[in-house]
Amino acid sequence: MLARRLAFVAAAFLTPAMAATPDPQATAADTVAMSIDASKPGAKIDRNIFGQFAEHLGTGIYEGVWVGPDSPIPNTRGIRNDVVAALKALKVPNVRWPGGCFADEYHWRKGIGKSRLATLNPNWGGVIEPNSFGTHEFMDLIGQIGSEAYLSVNIGSGTPQEAAEWLEYLTTDQPTALATERAANGHPAPYKIPYLGLGNESWDCGGNMTPEYYTRQMTIYSRFVRNFNPAQRDAGKMLRIAVGPGGGESRWTDWTEVVMKAWQGHQWSWDMEGLSLHNYTVIKWPPAYASVGFGEKEYAEILQKTLEMDGLIAKHSAIMDRYDPEKKIALVVDEWGAWYAKLPGSPEGFLAQQNSQRDAVLAALNLNIFARHADRVRMANIAQMVNVLQAMILTDKEKMVLTPTYHVFHMYVPFQDATFVPVSFDAGTYAQGDVKLPRVDAIAAKDAAGKIWMAVANVDPNRPATITASVAGLAPRSAAGQTLTGPRVDSVNTFEAPTSVTPKPIAARVQGGTVTLTVEPKSVTVIAVQP
Ligand code: AHR
Repeated sequence: MLARRLAFVAAAFLTPAMAATPDPQATAADTVAMSIDASKPGAKIDRNIFGQFAEHLGTGIYEGVWVGPDSPIPNTRGIRNDVVAALKALKVPNVRWPGGCFADEYHWRKGIGKSRLATLNPNWGGVIEPNSFGTHEFMDLIGQIGSEAYLSVNIGSGTPQEAAEWLEYLTTDQPTALATERAANGHPAPYKIPYLGLGNESWDCGGNMTPEYYTRQMTIYSRFVRNFNPAQRDAGKMLRIAVGPGGGESRWTDWTEVVMKAWQGHQWSWDMEGLSLHNYTVIKWPPAYASVGFGEKEYAEILQKTLEMDGLIAKHSAIMDRYDPEKKIALVVDEWGAWYAKLPGSPEGFLAQQNSQRDAVLAALNLNIFARHADRVRMANIAQMVNVLQAMILTDKEKMVLTPTYHVFHMYVPFQDATFVPVSFDAGTYAQGDVKLPRVDAIAAKDAAGKIWMAVANVDPNRPATITASVAGLAPRSAAGQTLTGPRVDSVNTFEAPTSVTPKPIAARVQGGTVTLTVEPKSVTVIAVQP
């Protein structure tokens, strides 16, 4: 009788989502005890770590964002309304554009004005670049989604003059010839450009430069590519991001050394505020792992690979600390995400892939790593926003679907600009063949209203985990949020079944300062703990 009564009381705490996945096998071993210390705030988790990257590549811009004003697909000045609405909900802090490798062959003048001449996109399939989406269209997109511009200037095949004129065209409020041209093209007011990338992968597709040669070039661009917008003189000063490493080997540590050393000894005439890091989750080149139709082995291997991000950041941060102990220079992970084999039948060079529950867990693990390094990592850009690599959104003509990665970014919105608070726990182990991974991962943060947010990734695809989190420095009264999982590790959302992986509500039990919740296998959960 008592047992039946307790079962009833327990069921009363469960949301329909939790009740639908009872945990008959749960044992003490499935419980992970965590302690959150809200009295020990850490660094701010900069909202910019939730940045996006949109390159002229495949259908990332054309079709994915830009359909043109005459398209039957609902659009505002040529930019598709469904994609804008979805991105607005993500509170995208910044969008990096126009590349990638594309940026070092991009000549901005071809993308302004009434008659746009077609050029080529040699990096990505050699297709025609119509130039119909150019500077004004990008800035319109930024305005429509409520984001900020992160422009990458062409150091590889451009000139300092070309880049300097682009910035003058965009930002001056003086009646120069370029500002007059901007006004004639529809935008009399200067644009705000808060972030400027000085080249892209200059060690490779951006010009095969040595670190010394790149640094020499970069300092010239830093000197002459000015932002004239009067609103960006002081607090809103444009941040210049230099090309940084693309891995952890000595070639890359040398690169970080050379650029940071130059910065440490820099003269008044040039400066930089960020150093980029590119790191894709890819097991071998060319990428061979499938983005859908894989099993637990590939799930575990990819997640093991993605966790290398932590060591990579630690390694480059340690070098940066030697030249910049005050952490003035941000480490900007402006290309990250999973890179799989192209979808069968998709064009060469379009980097089209599906996005599964594995990618949701992968996204959460990386966001958690960035948050733990929030004192140095102050910006990141997942590759890429729409239809390319680990995308938020997939489109097919008039159809659109949100990916599992989109849902993770949406669930993590409360972490934007929240203050990191430490969580300690013994993660336990999830083993698959030779691969051994921490079974769970978690971060916590305090928002401006004093609420604690907690994100938990249950990496184990077979066992649920019961989390008991004691919270010091705050008396929790209630806790609830959302959880994301799918039937299989490779579950995806398709145009036909767009909600196979979709967040569900989850409630936690709060008793005596401890929050208890059970998270499903291969899931990502974000809850708010209310004081
Ligand atoms: O995101 C795809 C490509 O990956 C980018 O253009 C380049 O910078 C990187 O190698």
